[in-house]
Amino acid sequence: MGLPPDTASLIMLEIGKELRFYEDSLALIGIIYIGKLTTSFSLSLYRGFKEHIFTKLYPNKEVITSFGNWALVTGATEGIGKAFAEELAKRGLNIALLDSDLNKLNEVSAEIEQEAGVDTRIVEVDFLDDFFINDKLMDIIKSIDIGILVNSFQVVIQNPTPFVKIPIEEVNEILNANIKSLTMLTYIVMNQMLPRNKGLILNLSAFSGLYPVPFISVYSASKAYMEFFSQSLSMECKNKNIVVQTVTPGFIKAQENSNESIFSCMLPNMTNFVRNTIDSVGISQRITGSWLFSMELWLLKRMPEFLMQLLVFEIMNSASV
Ligand SMILES: NC(=O)c1ccc[n+]([C@@H]2O[C@H](COP(=O)([O-])OP(=O)(O)OC[C@H]3O[C@@H](n4cnc5c(N)ncnc54)[C@H](OP(=O)(O)O)[C@@H]3O)[C@@H](O)[C@H]2O)c1
Repeated sequence: MGLPPDTASLIMLEIGKELRFYEDSLALIGIIYIGKLTTSFSLSLYRGFKEHIFTKLYPNKEVITSFGNWALVTGATEGIGKAFAEELAKRGLNIALLDSDLNKLNEVSAEIEQEAGVDTRIVEVDFLDDFFINDKLMDIIKSIDIGILVNSFQVVIQNPTPFVKIPIEEVNEILNANIKSLTMLTYIVMNQMLPRNKGLILNLSAFSGLYPVPFISVYSASKAYMEFFSQSLSMECKNKNIVVQTVTPGFIKAQENSNESIFSCMLPNMTNFVRNTIDSVGISQRITGSWLFSMELWLLKRMPEFLMQLLVFEIMNSASV
């Protein structure tokens, strides 16, 4: 015996209403999700435009000399630190170079003075030491008007190694260089910047400070320290005209090479990376120094965490000693 036709259509009507409710709810969730994706995509696009296109179309060349006459650069005789010292000198700043090798310091300072016609100071320091600050460093910091501090030097682990296999003395040195020296130097220089109410601190971070990397765990964790330290200081100095910027690059090519693979052809070289970074001063708290790194970070952020951890583990595990 079937239901009377009226009852059946009433039930169908009710089911239809229920279904419409679920349909509407799903549509709403879809709209919110698409809205979130669109907003996040537009924001990324806007940030990318600001850092990589706007700064090229409307370069503000004066901003870099507005913080003071001197820039102090760590790890300044090689690699990224040297590239920063050279580029800042080209833009008219006097340079204080910090490094652990006196001969190389003398060489690079003579080069910079000759090529850029600026003044230089050199200080021999060993950031691996428990307390690297010496009298000469203190005297120099007090005697010059440091407008820019580039914290470039960090101990990088060349061969991925399981944590407990790293000699304990080396662990101590990485902590000294990457955390203690960074913090102490920033403390001393910032104390000189604050009364003048201006300054720029550039902290060279890495992707491994944003994503945990096994087999270089101490380095990765020290970069995460740098990220938080930078961001906190940036917030603290918001009303003090002191810019604290984190620079988060991926792999940077030391030199152009005629036998390069397609992959390494795409990597930015040190000079371009440093120029882009300097041109992007004040644009946002974190910059990457290259459109390629911004794209890589954008993609990494969208990757599911478990997949990322799996990939990173496999890569690092196969490279570890
Ligand atoms: N290169 C990349 O692809 C890359 C990618 C991402 C992030 N980063 C970051 O960028 C920054 C710069 O990297 P980098 O590759 O140019 O090399 P780096 O190893 O950080 O710096 C090399 C410089 O530091 C000096 N140095 C070495 N030991 C020292 C010590 N104990 N005390 C003081 N100075 C010392 C070296 O000269 P002496 O040996 O003569 O003293 C050299 O001038 C780092 O913070 C790194 O984490 C680099």
